[in-house]
Amino acid sequence: MQTAIHLDDGLAIPRLGFGTFQLSGAQAYDSVMTALDAGYRHVDTAQGYANEAEVGRALRDALVDRDEVFVTTKLLPSNAAADDVRTSTEQSLRELDTDRVELLLLHWPAEHVAPLAETLEAMTKLRESGLARAIGVSNFPSAMLARAFDLAPLVTDQVEHHPFLAVTPIERVLQQHGGFLTAYSPLAKGEVAEDSTLRSLAADHGVSPAQITLRWMLQRPGVVTIPKSGTEERIRSNAQVYDFELSDDEMASIDALDRGHRLVDPANGPDWD
Ligand SMILES: NC(=O)c1ccc[n+]([C@@H]2O[C@H](COP(=O)([O-])OP(=O)(O)OC[C@H]3O[C@@H](n4cnc5c(N)ncnc54)[C@H](OP(=O)(O)O)[C@@H]3O)[C@@H](O)[C@H]2O)c1
Repeated sequence: MQTAIHLDDGLAIPRLGFGTFQLSGAQAYDSVMTALDAGYRHVDTAQGYANEAEVGRALRDALVDRDEVFVTTKLLPSNAAADDVRTSTEQSLRELDTDRVELLLLHWPAEHVAPLAETLEAMTKLRESGLARAIGVSNFPSAMLARAFDLAPLVTDQVEHHPFLAVTPIERVLQQHGGFLTAYSPLAKGEVAEDSTLRSLAADHGVSPAQITLRWMLQRPGVVTIPKSGTEERIRSNAQVYDFELSDDEMASIDALDRGHRLVDPANGPDWD
């Protein structure tokens, strides 16, 4: 199993990242410090999480070289106009105390703010000037994603994905364009811990349902996953997913849990596939 996805330009994306949504202040700093100590080398933040400064302080203080860590941030939709793409990214870099992010995403479709072509062109320029090593989108359904791939050199669509929510049409577009899927809310915001199939597999392997879920994602090519926890023990155990393996039958039994169960669906969100 590959622990990273390697792009043609030499950029490597660690497939297990650490999510930071709803972590703020000291808890954000402590959690990212713990995550880096536990072996995560990929941290996911966003302008909208109001924790870029804490993430940046942890990146600076951790006993891991900044070059070893893949950092993602996301543009607020309100910053989708070209000038705001640049100025807000520069502000994010100041908050993160870094000269570049490895990945810059548009957090949600934002055509009510600026045409998609304008936003993606401004993001492409940031990539060309080195402020972002790679660019992508988030919360794009498949048809909108296909249109975005025609406009810019994107590498990913970060969308909700867990055992209870398959995203097959999006994965198909990503495969067609050589992109990878970034699965957010991979633990279904903790609901995986209550599922009987996942609990039974967890008991069989002597691990947690969360570890079973993350392992299921990592055994599928082209998937990056970014679980969040603010609890030290869970931050550490969620990263222990490399010393057991799921059989084909076990993988299929998790595939079968899909029931279109979407947890993140704001009123102004896109029409999903
Ligand atoms: N692009 C977007 O629009 C978007 C939207 C949502 C999320 N995201 C990104 O994806 C990341 C992950 O998504 P998420 O935070 O929504 O949900 P998640 O990672 O699926 O689940 C986090 C929840 O699960 C709990 N948890 C963590 N480990 C557990 C374990 N081993 N057993 C039982 N429960 C466990 C956490 O509680 P404790 O903290 O108490 O451990 C927390 O309540 C976010 O942090 C963010 O970086 C992006």
